Amino acid sequence: MEAKKAAAELAVERSVQDGMIVGLGTGSTAYWAIQKLGELVRQGLRIQTVATSVASEELARSLGIPQLVTADITEIDVTIDGADEVDPQWNLMKGGGGALLREKIVACASRKLVIVVDEGKLVQQLGAFPLPVEIVKFGWELTLRKLRAMGCEPALRLAADGQPVVTDNGNYLLHCRFGAIAQPAELQAALQGTPGVVESGLFIGLAREVIVGYTGGKAVSLV
Ligand code: A5P
Repeated sequence: MEAKKAAAELAVERSVQDGMIVGLGTGSTAYWAIQKLGELVRQGLRIQTVATSVASEELARSLGIPQLVTADITEIDVTIDGADEVDPQWNLMKGGGGALLREKIVACASRKLVIVVDEGKLVQQLGAFPLPVEIVKFGWELTLRKLRAMGCEPALRLAADGQPVVTDNGNYLLHCRFGAIAQPAELQAALQGTPGVVESGLFIGLAREVIVGYTGGKAVSLV
């Protein structure tokens, strides 16, 4: 926890200034960035934000952080978000929290995407974490079979009650075990070309800064 908190707080200190529009990530690391922003807003920081999930939206609201609707945004100054894996080229595996679609929309609308992780998320190759893929409900079994034919072992994400998890966007999620992903950009292109796939958790070439937190509470920017 201290590693995630340290990374998130350093990201806010380094990246957020008065007057900015800030993208709020999702997950247990982004949580600390939102908490820090709430603290700064209480002290007078003037920002507008856009959240990448209903959970982050509710957290921001509870902290009194101003939020915009997407129709009022042309560009987001900076987004601070977590990741499940980060490779040496800063390609990312995201979506463990199920928010990958809104996370990607917000990341792609941001001038700068700052990724905050603990050291355990740094990997040589993506793929130990099963790739989350958001798919439409219609024909989901057909989509699952298409993805299996691409060389992974896909499984529908289930909630504790055994029912399929439904995302904030009304879709299902597949966990796709590809093993080590040698060519993430090519895989992302193939997934995007598969009908039924809405988005995958591969974020290729989007991160502009990676901040790593360590046990003991130290955090370092890899920039
Ligand atoms: C949410 O959908 C994810 O992309 C998270 O950003 C990612 O899973 C990292 O989450 P943690 O910070 O909780 O590890």
